[in-house]
Amino acid sequence: MKSWFDRFKSKGESEQAKLERIKAEILAGDADAPARKTSRRSFLARLGVGATLVGLAGQALAYLRALKPNVLYEEPQKFKVGTPDQFGEGGKFLEERRLFVFKERSTFYAVSAACTHLGCTVKMQKLNQPKKVKTRQREFEEQYEFHCPCHGSKYYGDGTNYAGPAPRPLDYFKLEVSPDDGQIIVDMAQVVDQNFRLTV
Ligand code: FES
Repeated sequence: MKSWFDRFKSKGESEQAKLERIKAEILAGDADAPARKTSRRSFLARLGVGATLVGLAGQALAYLRALKPNVLYEEPQKFKVGTPDQFGEGGKFLEERRLFVFKERSTFYAVSAACTHLGCTVKMQKLNQPKKVKTRQREFEEQYEFHCPCHGSKYYGDGTNYAGPAPRPLDYFKLEVSPDDGQIIVDMAQVVDQNFRLTV
């Protein structure tokens, strides 16, 4: 195919004739315009079909997903935490369970670390000086307290709330000894009284 430059250089033509010829060629070239328009139209049509198919596929996937039930795998509420001799005197924090297990000589009790306001994990604070505390449950000298970092709720060492928005004391859970291997079993599905103690 001749380049524009070659065609412009054609011999035996006056300048005017050359210009006329090139103009005619340009106009003739525009004869392809309808074809170009058609191919643009078909491209847009294909794009439209593609978008519709993608939309339908999305809806089909959403439908199939809805057929599959949502299964929530929760950790068992009843679990073993070890034999009594594996506990030292005082509190042991089980982070993954958000639970404190306390040993006082031969007795055990388990206190929830979930704040009764909105469920943040409370922290156990060791007191510099033991403090005498009188609650509805009893009178005792506490060595530690529980403080919630979220909205400032505070609980005495026995779990009784005394400051901040917490509406009630921390939960205590039932403990028992496994007859199989002597391990302590915590049952977080069973809330018990603050005075509950497991004696081993
Ligand atoms: S969650 Fe503990 S004070 Fe709000």
